[in-house]
Order: sequence, then structure tokens, then C-alpha cells
Amino acid sequence: MTTETTSRTPALADVPYADARLGERDRELLRATLHEVGTDPEQKFILGRRTAALEQALAEQAGARHAVACGSGTLALALALRAVGVVAGDEVIVPAFGAEPLAATVLSIGAVPVFADVDPLTMTIDPVDAESRVTEVTRAVVPAHLFTTMADMPAIRALARRHGLAVVEDAAVAQGAKLAGQAAGTWGDAGLYSFFPVKPFGMPGEGAVVVTDKPEISDAVRQLRNHGQDGVHRFVHHEIGVNSRFDEVLAGYQLGRLDRAGEMLARRAEIAELYSTRFAPLRQRGLLAPATGADGQCHYVYAVQTICRDALAAHLAAQGIGSRVYYPVPLPRLPAFAAYAGESSNGRRPGAELAAARHLALPLHLGLTDRDAERTADAVSAFFS
Ligand SMILES: Cc1ncc(COP(=O)(O)O)c(C=O)c1O
Repeated sequence: MTTETTSRTPALADVPYADARLGERDRELLRATLHEVGTDPEQKFILGRRTAALEQALAEQAGARHAVACGSGTLALALALRAVGVVAGDEVIVPAFGAEPLAATVLSIGAVPVFADVDPLTMTIDPVDAESRVTEVTRAVVPAHLFTTMADMPAIRALARRHGLAVVEDAAVAQGAKLAGQAAGTWGDAGLYSFFPVKPFGMPGEGAVVVTDKPEISDAVRQLRNHGQDGVHRFVHHEIGVNSRFDEVLAGYQLGRLDRAGEMLARRAEIAELYSTRFAPLRQRGLLAPATGADGQCHYVYAVQTICRDALAAHLAAQGIGSRVYYPVPLPRLPAFAAYAGESSNGRRPGAELAAARHLALPLHLGLTDRDAERTADAVSAFFS
């Protein structure tokens, strides 16, 4: 009689690129908050006391005087632009590489997006190129934080001062990040954070907040988000606004986990630090990775850059490791914005072209174990050795 022993190596589980599933604690919080709001004698479901409390808490957390909750990051950006005084026909300088709302919101209010190149390493707006595009009708500049390294806010602030421009800091992905001790979102006249599910402080729904120190900006956003009403006189519309109000269930949910925002971000930072430490020696072999160290870093997406981007993605996929190309085409080359691309030498944006061609985002989420992160780092390292 023969005995057959089969020894199997357990298959390695896939490492998904993203994971926005709710943990048990968040699921329970959502259930409890839904019950609480649904059975609250007040029966107020939109812009109630929970939204007001969340606004206050978020303003305090950011070190801003005011916070106004809106229905999405996209509308928060559009309303912040209007609140700082951008009107139809004005030009607004935005990065040529980044999320579509950066340009779409400008157009949605009748203004014109002017695309500035980005720094090829940080992939955020290049202040020198941005300044070269200022004209007599430029009204505002919109730096956006993107992958790990925050935009160069001191330089953007200085250029805005020189030219009398407003700064709307798109910190949709950078809530909790700090540069030189100052919170992302608070460097300009107004800033915003998105709560879209996969964002660092994402939630199971749509929402965002505008932060500002200026009461006139906060009042303007508050009025615009609720159809131009002032919050006192119902059905008196001072201007044409939008519906960008905030839901009480989501406000209660965000309030209930605000004390965990720091630890959630710290975990993302830990994974990013692991990657950057492992990747630093691979620079000579053609892998560009964000620097190690916490100052001026945000941890929504961790992206490396290499001219072998597609081969690296295929190599990772073969090992069950997810990755993502965010913006394969710079904004001014998208059909939607081609009319605003600019011509001649001013239409050249080599930094944005490089970023679009070279970046690859690696898994960075709270479902990632240390082993997953090490495995991802090992796989990337193996590709370059
Ligand atoms: C930089 C930036 N701005 C604005 C937005 C829009 O935010 P939301 O999805 O909440 O509308 C996004 C969304 O990804 C973004 O990345």
C-alpha cells in the first residue's frame, strides 16, 4: 500500500489595487447612525445639527476658521471658485495633469481653464510654468495635491500674491496632510477635501467640505450650496446656486469616526514609507519613487514612475498584484478640453506628458497587510534587478 502525501504551497492571495469595503466597525457605525437619524424626533435629514457639528470639527482639525459641507468634491471646487470671485470669462490656471474636475469645474462656471505644466517628479503644478501663463484676465490658480508629494504651496502662494490671484487649493485627496506644520487645504483662500469612498477619509456616499479662514468665502459657499438662499429667508434666492447639500446620516457617520482619521492616515503613511524605503536604491535602475519622510506628503495614491510602466504593470499583474494608471492623457489633450489646450510653445507641457506616460500607482489602502505591501515591494524590486 502506498500512501500519497501531497504537499501544497498555499496559493498567494491576490493583492487588490483598491479596497473600499467597510470594516466591521464602520459597518456598525453606519447601521447605528442610520437608526439614530431615522428615529430622531427632529426628523431632519439634510443640513441638520450633525452637519453643523461635522463642519465645526473639520474646521478645528484643519486649523481653519470655517468649513462648509457640500455634496461632492466637484461641486465644492466649483462653488469655492465662485466664492473667491471667479466669474464668466476669467482665466483660471489649473495643472495639466490630474483629475478631470480641475478643468471641468472652471468651465462649468463660464471661466476658462489655462493648463500649466507639472513638475515631472512630483507631478504637481509647476509654479514657474504657471506664472508664465498669467494674463490680465487670470483670476485664480488651482494647485492640486496628487500622488504623495503635496503641490509646492509656498511658491504658489507667492506667485498668487505677486499677481493678485486667488488660490483655491484642491486638497480633495489630501485631508490630514501637512507641509511645514500647516494643513493641506489651508494654504489658499479656500481649500477642499472630498469624502468619495476611496479617499483617505472616504465614506459610503458622496460629500466634501470647503475650508477657509475668510467668512465672506464661507458665507458665499453656504449660500451657493443651497440654491442661493441665505439660510434665514426661505425661498428668497439671492443668486443662482446649486443643490450641494450634505446628508445627516453621512455627517453622523463621519463624526463618529473622525477620531480615527489620524490612525487611518498613519497606516497609509506607513505603507508609503515602506515602499519609498525599498525603492530608493532602485533610482539608478530607472525607478522614480516619492522620497521618504512625512513632511508635505499626502497618502491617497502611491505612484512610482518608470519608462517601462506597462511592462511593470504586466509583471505585477502576473503575480496577482493590482496597479493602476490614473491619467494616461494630460488634461489638455483630452477631447473634452482640447479647445483650451493652447497653441505654439505655450501648448507644450513636457512634465505632464512624462507623468502621463510613466506613472503607475501601487496598492495603498487599509485592507493591505504588511505582507501584501512587502510582496508588492518585492515584486517591483525583482522587476528592476
Ligand atoms: C484632485 C481632485 N479634485 C476634485 C475631485 C472631485 O471630487 P469628488 O469625486 O468628491 O467629486 C477629485 C476626485 O477624484 C480629485 O481627485
